[in-house]
Amino acid sequence: MTAPKHYLQFKDLSRDQYDYLFQRATWIKEQFKSYQQYWPLTDRTLVMIFEKASTRTRVSFEAGIQQLGGCAIHLSTRDSQLGRGEPVEDAAQVLSRMSDLVMIRTFEQEIIERFAANSRVPVINGLTNEYHPCQIMADIFTYIEQKGSIQGKTVAWIGDSNNVCNTWLQAAEVLDFNVHVSTPPGYEVEPERAGLYGTDHYEQFSDPMEAAQGADIVTTDVWTSMGFEAENEERLKAFADWQVDGEMMRAAGPEAMFLHCLPAHRGEEVTAEVIDGPQSHVWVEAENRLHVQKALMEYLLLGRVNV
Ligand code: CP
Ligand code: NVA
Repeated sequence: MTAPKHYLQFKDLSRDQYDYLFQRATWIKEQFKSYQQYWPLTDRTLVMIFEKASTRTRVSFEAGIQQLGGCAIHLSTRDSQLGRGEPVEDAAQVLSRMSDLVMIRTFEQEIIERFAANSRVPVINGLTNEYHPCQIMADIFTYIEQKGSIQGKTVAWIGDSNNVCNTWLQAAEVLDFNVHVSTPPGYEVEPERAGLYGTDHYEQFSDPMEAAQGADIVTTDVWTSMGFEAENEERLKAFADWQVDGEMMRAAGPEAMFLHCLPAHRGEEVTAEVIDGPQSHVWVEAENRLHVQKALMEYLLLGRVNV
């Protein structure tokens, strides 16, 4: 049996593979928008394991596999033996004998890696403490759709150096763009945890306004990610000056796009004026999760498809 292709972090795919996936997502989106049935994954089963809450990831994967002709099974820690201590390796052996594809949202990246090492079918990262590759695939697709190539462009990341930030940093290396990161002191990027090769594609700024200056994309995320709730009070204080507001968007310029993976906390990491304003593309960004993940599932199961 040949080893399955997994998608555990952004750098698991090359620039050429992303170029293909973005083209494919465009076609798949057009089919969806014109109510064309496209069922390349008939009889295929996706198992989704959620150890953390989700709205977008759950619905986009479940709707996505159904729209491709397959079906999804939802498991959570609470309603499966994973919550009662069954080893992840054993779960992988069993679930991958009963299904064609597995999507996992969990805590440490190490958990999904152990699962993938024991899986006979492709495994997709639906968010870990370290990474959120499907999100950044959708974000970059959104930029390309509206503005063109992201190569050489600048993304300003304002806030926590979390899973979404780490994934932007990896994507910058794979797709050759730049990230200006501004985090409060004590919350800086950890290059090793982000899985970076070097520092050529990002720059750290202590002043968030400086990071946003002239950026093509300004993006942020919640100050407290899932699993870190105990730090919430402390983070509310530490991040108070790292809010994306109208002044910051003006520093970026009128063409700059605001993105946020959602869910958002208006009045914390972003003002309502920005997220509900004309430079925000967050709804199409969320929708694009569906289209890029359909392209990804098709690719992992069928390889390149020429229609
Ligand atoms: N952006 C994102 O992954 O959203 P959910 O947590 O709702 O899945
Ligand atoms: N950084 C956030 C992203 C949620 C989609 C979290 O991990 O909670």
